Formats: sequence, structure tokens, C-alpha cells
Amino acid sequence: MELYGEIADIYRDFARYDAGSNGSHTFADWATAVADDPEVLAWLATLPPIKRQANLVFAAARWHGVPAPGPYAGLRAALLADDGSIRATILARATQTNEVGRLATLVPAFASFRGPLALLEVGASAGLCLYPDRWGYDWRTDDGHVTLGGEPRLECRVKGPAPLPATLPQVAWRGGIDLHPLDVTDADQMAWLEQLVWPEHDDRRVRLRQAIEVARADPPAIRRGDLLTDLPAAVAEASAYGTVVVFHSAVIAYLEPADRDRFDGLVRGLVADGACHWVSNEGKNVLPSVTATGPAIPAEHPTFVLGVDGRAVAHTHGHGRSMRWVGA
Ligand SMILES: C[S@@+](CC[C@H](N)C(=O)[O-])C[C@H]1O[C@@H](n2cnc3c(N)ncnc32)[C@H](O)[C@@H]1O
Repeated sequence: MELYGEIADIYRDFARYDAGSNGSHTFADWATAVADDPEVLAWLATLPPIKRQANLVFAAARWHGVPAPGPYAGLRAALLADDGSIRATILARATQTNEVGRLATLVPAFASFRGPLALLEVGASAGLCLYPDRWGYDWRTDDGHVTLGGEPRLECRVKGPAPLPATLPQVAWRGGIDLHPLDVTDADQMAWLEQLVWPEHDDRRVRLRQAIEVARADPPAIRRGDLLTDLPAAVAEASAYGTVVVFHSAVIAYLEPADRDRFDGLVRGLVADGACHWVSNEGKNVLPSVTATGPAIPAEHPTFVLGVDGRAVAHTHGHGRSMRWVGA
């Protein structure tokens, strides 16, 4: 019973802090209902702990035809009558949501460095965030719109004195590391990526398709590897091409707390040695050493923290819809 309580808490937090704040009423409703449904909690308890995440379970159910937006009854019936297909999808796949909208918050950080840049993304998924120079931007400030580049443009509301760049970054090389790289030329893998976009987020689905086309025109070099062990060699390789910028968004939360600290130390060492710069964009509790350099964040405020070389420069929306610049 204690286990069911733990799973219920995970789903309640997901409803409140993730789906609730990011605008998926369907997933917020589903997660709230799961938390109060002992039979579904019992079904979830039979999965390995790492596979019980709401995002993964809901995406797998949709993959097997559960309508979303749609009522919780559809999800419930499908899970409880599962012939093993939904379970197999949950076990075989992972949440690797690749959100190109985050570039609208990453590009002002990239602008701090002298180009040409060698962009090295750890936890790159399909590498869709490796093309900051192939998108336009529409930053909506209190004084009006600041635009950069042409269509398609990524929109972002901006508060604070953000150093919005007047030129696109010059990218000489782009590559990445991922435990399970996704291949932009593989239709099945891209269909799964699309399934991970939340039901009501039609704008994100359109953007994802555009991002896949951008990447397919010039596929990125993403190596299968672990950011904890393979980063120094990748930095050394990238350094032949330009100023190395190691970056990541929505990745470090996947590591155990001790490994988050190890990664923090590893990349800080590389920065101290002058081997690379570092742009981090993670949930506020994921890299405490970065978050602590910025202003305090109210406990109930879910936000990502954008860091440059270990210092917080902005509080950002997890999908790049807005940012508040807090850096100098
Ligand atoms: C939620 S996705 C984020 C993708 C991309 N960074 C973005 O912002 O759209 C997280 C990615 O991190 C990868 N990942 C998790 N742990 C990793 C590790 N130890 N080494 C390399 N990649 C890892 C996962 O495989 C997944 O593709």
C-alpha cells in the first residue's frame, strides 16, 4: 500500500507541477484520477520504477489508440485490459521529448560566446536543438517585439534585461551524446517523438515536424554514449572546429542525485581548464549549484534555470515559451 501511495504522489505532482503548469488539461486530469485509482496504481506498481512516469505511460497508451484529449475512462480501460502491448511499449521506449522551442531561451546564452561555435549537446535525443542558426526568433518584451532571422520563428515572452542578440549564432560544428540517440531519418522513431508531445499542444506538434525537416536536411552527429563518461573525449573532438559550447536541457534530472553532482564537477572542471563553455537549462532543483547563484525562487514556482558557465542568468519556461533574465 505504501508503494501505491508513492506512485500516487508522483502522479499528483505531475498533475500539479508538470501537466498543470504547462497546460495539458487532459494529462492533468488523467494523472489526478490515476492517483485516486487503486486498480490502476496496482497496474503501475508492476512496472519497473523508472518506467512508471506519467509521461511515458500516457504516451504509450496513446500510441495504442487511447484518445487524447479524451476522458480518463479511456486510459483506465486500456491499461486494465492491456494484453501486454502497452506494457511492451513502455518497457521498450523512453521519454526523450525533444523540444526545439527551448532554443528561444538558449540563443541569448549562446550569444555570450565568441564564434564560430562547436555546439555539443549532451542528452541530445534526436538533436533538434542543434540548429539555433536555422530558426528565427520573436522575443516579446515589455517594449514590443524583438525579431531575429526569418520564418519559422520561435516565440518567447521575455522579462528583464535579456541580452537579445542581433545576429544568429555562427555554428561551425554540431554534435551530441545520448544514451539512446534518435535518428531523424527513422519514421517510427520520429512518430514516437511526436507522440510525446502533449495532446493539446498543437503548436508544438507543428514545430516538431518543422524541426525534423530542418535536421533531416543536415543530420547531426549524435554518438551513443553516457554524458558522465564520454564528455571529455567529445569536447576534445569538437575543439577542432570552434569555441566548444557544451549544453543540455531537461537531461540532468534523469541522473541519480550523486551523478548530477559528478556531472556538475566534471563540466566545471572542463570550463576551468578552458576546454569549453557550459550552458545548462534544467529544472530549478536539478543543479542546485547553478540555481543558488541566482535570485531565490518561490517553492511553488516551477521553472527551469538557465546557466552560463555555472552561473544562473535566467529563469525559463520548460518548453521555452518565456524567460525572465536574472543575470547581469
Ligand atoms: C527529455 S530528453 C531532452 C532532449 C533535448 N535535450 C531537448 O531539450 O529537447 C532527455 C534526453 O537525455 C538523454 N539522457 C539521459 N541520461 C543520459 C546520460 N547519462 N547520458 C546521455 N544522455 C542521457 C535521454 O536519452 C534523452 O534523450
